[in-house]
Amino acid sequence: MKRKLVILGAQWGDEGKGKIVDLLSESYDMVIRYQGGSNAGHTVIYKGKKVILHLLPTGILHPHVTGLITQGMVVDLEVLDRELENLKKLGVEWKGRVFISDRAHLVMPYHKVLDRLFERRGGIGTTLRGIGPAYMFKFGRKGIRIADLEDKERLKDLLEENFYFVKSLAEGVFGETLTVNLEETLSSLLRIYEKYRYMVRDVSRILWETDRSMIFEGAQGTMLDVDMGTYPFVTSSNSSALGLANGTGLSPKFFSDAYFVGVAKAYTTRVGGGPFPTELKGEEGERLRDLGGEFGSTTGRPRRCGWLDLVVLKHAVRVNQLDGLIITKLDVLDSFEEIKVCVGYECEGERIEHFPASITTLERCRPVYETLKGWLRNTKGIRNMKDLPPEAKDYIKLIEDFTGVPVVMLSTGPEREEYLWLRPELRPS
Ligand code: GDP
Ligand code: IMO
Ligand code: MG
Repeated sequence: MKRKLVILGAQWGDEGKGKIVDLLSESYDMVIRYQGGSNAGHTVIYKGKKVILHLLPTGILHPHVTGLITQGMVVDLEVLDRELENLKKLGVEWKGRVFISDRAHLVMPYHKVLDRLFERRGGIGTTLRGIGPAYMFKFGRKGIRIADLEDKERLKDLLEENFYFVKSLAEGVFGETLTVNLEETLSSLLRIYEKYRYMVRDVSRILWETDRSMIFEGAQGTMLDVDMGTYPFVTSSNSSALGLANGTGLSPKFFSDAYFVGVAKAYTTRVGGGPFPTELKGEEGERLRDLGGEFGSTTGRPRRCGWLDLVVLKHAVRVNQLDGLIITKLDVLDSFEEIKVCVGYECEGERIEHFPASITTLERCRPVYETLKGWLRNTKGIRNMKDLPPEAKDYIKLIEDFTGVPVVMLSTGPEREEYLWLRPELRPS
């Protein structure tokens, strides 16, 4: 039986998935990105340097790991090129260890133009990486896949058709002249493709046929899932466990013996617009942002910050059927005298503990808080249970009691070795 571990964001992204995937990749053979694209920014401290991965699976920093980019991703070849070149400069030798699905869709320069234009009217604060438009084209059956790069004539026809559409939209709706050049787009695409053509595979079949152990590395988070998140303030893929089957081209049955773990910060953040019931808009929010270094890994935007929302975590536990949680950035709360945790919403006189679908309902919800005593002790880098302050243990217990799943690990700093297993017996092995 192949060992399978699924790592998912349990909030609005940036939970510290990259750090956790990097850490756990030590004992896995393959790491797989299966949805989203370069909107993701997964941070790892590698040999003392901060490395941010956008498209490649984070595990690739380990020389024994094979990294797969599956069909569910939308791939910007220019970003891929930059990322691979950058790794080379860092001394990471990836040749023969990275494979890309022939079914994956491409993010084209005109998708990024559209992303920008759509943001101009009623925008949601996207990363402007062309993700939404690339998925729009995919599901509108106008997308270009990696496999299409093998047929130049067909590729040219597809590009011409897409150009005509984007140009008409840009000019007709947004009054903007399209500045992307077809010939240049085509030649630059093919130039990069030639460099990495040898990596293209039927990745779904690789996963099906291998006996090697695998980590599925989710990007974004459950609350940004196009179906289960705060729609329309979401990304354009299923960034919860719902994206696993279509993202990999494997049946949900394939994942039935996997261990599902959700990564959550000890507080909450989100980048871009949309509902955020526990958001702290004043000084406390700024304090969390400063202490947590909460600035986007992809866009550098300041992240909105707030208290931990257990209604969100419970939603993530149910949607993903999580076996356990990993709580990151506990150390960021070290200096707070009091720590609040949201244990429900007060909504038009009613107390609810589930996450409502309607944005209108959500806007009327007020968080109900439980206040806990802070630990006022340094937890940064602690590795042993005995060093965990009793107040922090109470904090973890509240999370476990409310969500009904164990907190299996704590992360206590950005470095690889700054963590501790709370439930070593549940350690996925
Ligand atoms: P991801 O998108 O889920 O991989 O998360 P990001 O990399 O976008 O953001 C997480 C940030 O928190 C990064 O800067 C990490 O280096 C940092 N980080 C991760 N775990 C911890 C932790 O336990 N404590 C602290 N202080 N920082 C952490
Ligand atoms: P990782 O994997 C945090 C957010 C954007 C915006 C919304 C839609 O690093 O956790 P998109 O560009 O996807 O169309 O933007 O989703 N977003 C993220 N927020 N972490 C991410 O990825 C994100 N990827 C997208 O800020 O609100
Ligand atoms: Mg991130």
